[in-house]
Amino acid sequence: MAALNPPWAMLAELTHGCPLRCPYCSNPTELVRAADELTTEDWLRVFTEAARLGVAHAHLSGGEPLLRRDLTELVAGAADAGIYAQLVTSGLGLTKGRLAELTAAGLPSVQLSVQGADAVTSERIAGRRSFAAKERAAALIRDAGLPLGLNVVLHRHNLDGLDAILQLAVDWGAVRVELANTQFYGWGLRNRAALMPSREQLARAQRVVEAWRGRTGMELIWVVPDYFDGVAKPCMGGWGAISLTVAPDGRVLPCPAAYDLPLDAPSVHEHSLDWIWSHSPAFNAYRGTGWMPDPCRTCARKDADFGGCRCQAFALTGDAARTDPACALSPDHGLVTSLTGARGGEFVYRGYGNRPNARDRARVGA
Ligand code: SF4
Ligand code: FES
Repeated sequence: MAALNPPWAMLAELTHGCPLRCPYCSNPTELVRAADELTTEDWLRVFTEAARLGVAHAHLSGGEPLLRRDLTELVAGAADAGIYAQLVTSGLGLTKGRLAELTAAGLPSVQLSVQGADAVTSERIAGRRSFAAKERAAALIRDAGLPLGLNVVLHRHNLDGLDAILQLAVDWGAVRVELANTQFYGWGLRNRAALMPSREQLARAQRVVEAWRGRTGMELIWVVPDYFDGVAKPCMGGWGAISLTVAPDGRVLPCPAAYDLPLDAPSVHEHSLDWIWSHSPAFNAYRGTGWMPDPCRTCARKDADFGGCRCQAFALTGDAARTDPACALSPDHGLVTSLTGARGGEFVYRGYGNRPNARDRARVGA
């Protein structure tokens, strides 16, 4: 067996609480409740162990990480451990004072989520009034001198507004924009038909991205959808290969969408991150190529795409060890082609028990 490389990146899901209710959210439909979240001390230990293991880069994410009252301590802890820890936020609840505290604690940059280029589209997707707060947050981040990135999850309700979204990114002073076509996991899976774009929408959006490249200094990342072209994506850069996700309650997953997989997810309450990365059954389940079935087993691309996405294989076939149905060579590829034609329906908004999460709104003070 090849030597095991250490992880490079970590997604720290500090909380699943969130003032927004986006139907594309990849968080699990069984959200972790505030009472089950890791404590400050737990997270500080996780950052120390992660840095020792080799993690250099973290996303402090959620849910909405600003809901954690100890966020400044957590930012300082990550910085002290030597981890470049970027805040990923909806922007709701960000004030000048809070940002100054976070910056003083060592926050190096912020990524702000954007749902659409105008208030009507944006707030229909987010499920609440939020556009003006995002605009204010962008201005605060820019004025604080922090690099501002935007992340935009794309789907049938905002793909046609991509040109306006990129203009908004320029106007808000973003240095980087991640355009990620919706991945159908968690709430996104529940809303798959309502979010599924058409092939024509995607082709038009791709042309918009190409037109913007070269005429802007912004870095543009376009995360290609895998449903339409018959090519499996090299998901997560390989299972247990470069990154790990720590859930709000301390479970550690090889992928942020792996909550629903039949894995015995190890926990930081019981094991060190080192043991979890190297020895846990969950991280070793689909590592390398030895687990692969045909057609991956004998395929020339197996070291390039790692057999595609385990979460997608599980969501579509009920078996995480099958070839990703997004691949045209998969015996299950028909499942994907039939889904791309199934479009429409209303959003099921994200939330605890699928109810508006009033307590979280109160916590963020929005
Ligand atoms: Fe990738 Fe497997 Fe498809 Fe080959 S058969 S292209 S390894 S997903
Ligand atoms: Fe989990 Fe692809 S989203 S492995």
